[in-house]
Amino acid sequence: MNEFLDLKREIRELKTSKNAVILAHNYQVEEVQLAADFLGDSLELSRKAASASQAVIVFAGVKFMAETAKILSPGKQVLLPRLDAGCPMADMITVDELRELKARHPGAPVVTYVNSAAEIKAESDVCCTSSNAVEVVRSIPAAEIVFVPDRNLGSYVQKKLPGKTIHLFEGYCYVHQRIRREEVEAMRAAHPRAKVIVHPEVTPEVMAVADEILSTSGMLRYAESSPAEEYIVATEQGLLQRMARENPGKKFIPAGSPRICSNMKRTTLGDVYDSLRLERYEIELAADVMERAGRALRAMIQYG
Ligand code: 13P
Ligand code: SF4
Repeated sequence: MNEFLDLKREIRELKTSKNAVILAHNYQVEEVQLAADFLGDSLELSRKAASASQAVIVFAGVKFMAETAKILSPGKQVLLPRLDAGCPMADMITVDELRELKARHPGAPVVTYVNSAAEIKAESDVCCTSSNAVEVVRSIPAAEIVFVPDRNLGSYVQKKLPGKTIHLFEGYCYVHQRIRREEVEAMRAAHPRAKVIVHPEVTPEVMAVADEILSTSGMLRYAESSPAEEYIVATEQGLLQRMARENPGKKFIPAGSPRICSNMKRTTLGDVYDSLRLERYEIELAADVMERAGRALRAMIQYG
């Protein structure tokens, strides 16, 4: 614990001397969550990155999130504390595969989930996150949409917008894909008063038995404002830690065995410290990719 206190003090000093801010995703390990200046879901963190006044952003999350911060704040130094913190879903689609999908559906606008590489965003019309995907697709005046890379989020959007035809790609998140409907139902049977809240990266079978389908911060807000005392939460464990910490009178139960994103869990407080101290690992992207991906991301941010 003392070791954490020393590191936190050193981090505070470095933040001041380097004019830096620490942004962290809700799935980070607790020691990193507690050291962050701002903790949130992908949309909240994108907005913070776009409006940050500091010269340096340390992004405790995975690579696509730090890339998004760089694209939205090109004049800043954006640091990812661990080079090996990637997102397997983001790596599932290649530029060639997306171009092929576009060629099969000419004229259909491309909506890309932010859990994607900058080069994929650069091939897209607009980005979305788990919290605004339905609204972003609804706002596009087109009957056919190409949606990549998450098939589960895409099929959720399709269900909400039956008047549109959504062409999906077969990407998925290995953490959410493993959550099974039977285990959620078993937890509900064991906790009949609990609300079942799930992330839209879970399978359609799991979404079908949920009370609410929400982004990570959407789940947090729901739990804060709902009178229910118990919640069965189908997402990564880091969010459940934050929910329990910020809602001490309420109970948060994982939907089955706790789900861990090993990529999100790579970053330690020591990595955040080293990142600030050694100014590593700096995100650098090709100018044309930044320009084109920036258009798709800003279209999302401006959307609302
Ligand atoms: P949120 O935007 O809901 O925080 O989700 C990000 C993510 O990576 C989910 O797996
Ligand atoms: Fe990617 Fe899934 Fe981890 Fe989110 S939880 S960063 S989608 S692998």
